[in-house]
Amino acid sequence: MLSEKLLNEINKQIKYELESAHYYVAMEAYFDSQDLPGFANFFKVQAEEERFHAQKFYDFVYEMDGDVELTGLELVGKEFDSCVDVFKKALEHEKFVTSRIYELMEIAEDEKEYATQSMLKWFVDEQVEEENSMKDMIVKLERVEKSPNGLYMLDKELAGRTFTPEAE
Ligand SMILES: [Fe+2]
Repeated sequence: MLSEKLLNEINKQIKYELESAHYYVAMEAYFDSQDLPGFANFFKVQAEEERFHAQKFYDFVYEMDGDVELTGLELVGKEFDSCVDVFKKALEHEKFVTSRIYELMEIAEDEKEYATQSMLKWFVDEQVEEENSMKDMIVKLERVEKSPNGLYMLDKELAGRTFTPEAE
């Protein structure tokens, strides 16, 4: 059984994960509007990952005999200046999510709630990957900044990205 405090915070996290998905769909749309289908696909997959994260928290709540409470989603932003601007905003957003996961972990540690700590451990590792994938893309984009050909190649490469939830 989860404490009320922890349950509330996990419910908030479900909202944040779904808002992340929402934000990434806005990024997908930006790239589709720029005729960059590979980059759009990158964020389509990213949004799928976020829904998967939300589902993981959702499943955990019911495993722990809690109840999920949904609230309305907000769109974090939808104005972007350039390709690299999108990835910089995505990185900032992932950093925010990481700080949220750490807050949850701190509460679970204070409460000696080991099941929650174990579940969160997966997210701690996942956030390292999420931040790194955004950082990688920023480096790649800065490298091809003034080369339409480089951008085209990168777009082609990203078209192949697919969502594969890892086996647990
Ligand atoms: Fe996430």
